[in-house]
Amino acid sequence: MHCVQKITENIYWVGGNDRRLERFENMFPIPNGVCYNSYLILDDKTCLMDTVDTAISRLFIDNIVHVLNGRDLDYLVINHMEPDHCANIEELVKRYPDIKIVGNKKTFQFIGQFYDFDYSMNIHEVKDCETLCIGKHNLKFMTMPMIHWPEVMFTYEETEKILFSADAFGAFGAMSGNIFADETDFEHHYLEEARRYYSNIVGKYGSQVQGALKKLSCYDIRMICSLHGPIWRENLEYFIEKYNVWSKYEPEKNGVVLVYASMYGNTENIMNVIANKLAQKGVKDMRMYDISKTHPSYIVSDIWKYSHVIFGSVTYNMGLYYGMESLLNELKALNLQNRKVGLVGNGTWSPQALKVMNEIICSMKNMEIVGTPFEITSSMKNNEEEIVDKFVEGFFINLIGC
Ligand code: FEO
Repeated sequence: MHCVQKITENIYWVGGNDRRLERFENMFPIPNGVCYNSYLILDDKTCLMDTVDTAISRLFIDNIVHVLNGRDLDYLVINHMEPDHCANIEELVKRYPDIKIVGNKKTFQFIGQFYDFDYSMNIHEVKDCETLCIGKHNLKFMTMPMIHWPEVMFTYEETEKILFSADAFGAFGAMSGNIFADETDFEHHYLEEARRYYSNIVGKYGSQVQGALKKLSCYDIRMICSLHGPIWRENLEYFIEKYNVWSKYEPEKNGVVLVYASMYGNTENIMNVIANKLAQKGVKDMRMYDISKTHPSYIVSDIWKYSHVIFGSVTYNMGLYYGMESLLNELKALNLQNRKVGLVGNGTWSPQALKVMNEIICSMKNMEIVGTPFEITSSMKNNEEEIVDKFVEGFFINLIGC
């Protein structure tokens, strides 16, 4: 049965949720599920904003048929050509052969790459800032390359001042009937997952997000409709400011994340000792992760949030422990910047962990090593405590000075 909601007088949410998928993009765990949003505008012409993932195709088609109530579908706008949003194009062309697919040059290139059906009679190619009037509603298309993929567009509906923002302003997490952010306890139920979504999926493209925010600042936006997560119709500036901070790679909070790679518990022990000493100096709300236990997407997200991070790793294969090397390289690939970093290495013979961690961190932008990095040999002894104290003191002074 159809499952839709009106978001304004003539615009309907026709998306759906997936709580069964284990990993988004076959990579990121989504214990709270994910939603795929799509929106249908009824006017002189009918216009659908994006489609959904194959996982909910049946419901999606039911939704469209119900809302159209016998009408034809005139336009399908493709703001993003990633398959979690465009899996139903072929089915819609079969059902509505006169439909016009609205996209840019790259959109049509990608349709041809992903799918194998004839859409040559359905193409409506647009350029940046081109408009399409469908009655009372007027759609303006803005190309936003690399706000996740190069073909991405945002569509601004000028009459009701609604921004259809593709992946931007999205979040992991299925929706429980409440599709508007103001109907949810967003800070508790969505914010962490919105940050994890942003940092891991869009984080690399901070400069493009900054460009988009600048472009959007000229528009009066009353509602933001993302392809994932709840719709914003109140307090939009709250979430826009989160995107501003995240895309500038600025920490949201002065605080410490500790991440360790430990084989037999000795590196783990040092990290606990460091955290205890920082706690006794009054540092609150620290987060500690075992790289082999926690999916790196959660660690990336917390590092995006906090100002300081301490990496502690054992040496492995005369290099860096696999999980730690992978995390640091991922942070570098995501363009993480502006963090204060403490480093602790460990090795039994030919220790290399500290050296490799230092090389990776120093190859990133605006990262500062704080405290005095140190390396232990197999395990820390009681008579070596002053080395830890020296590290903690230096790290703490930097933390409270921020
Ligand atoms: Fe939700 Fe970039 O796709």
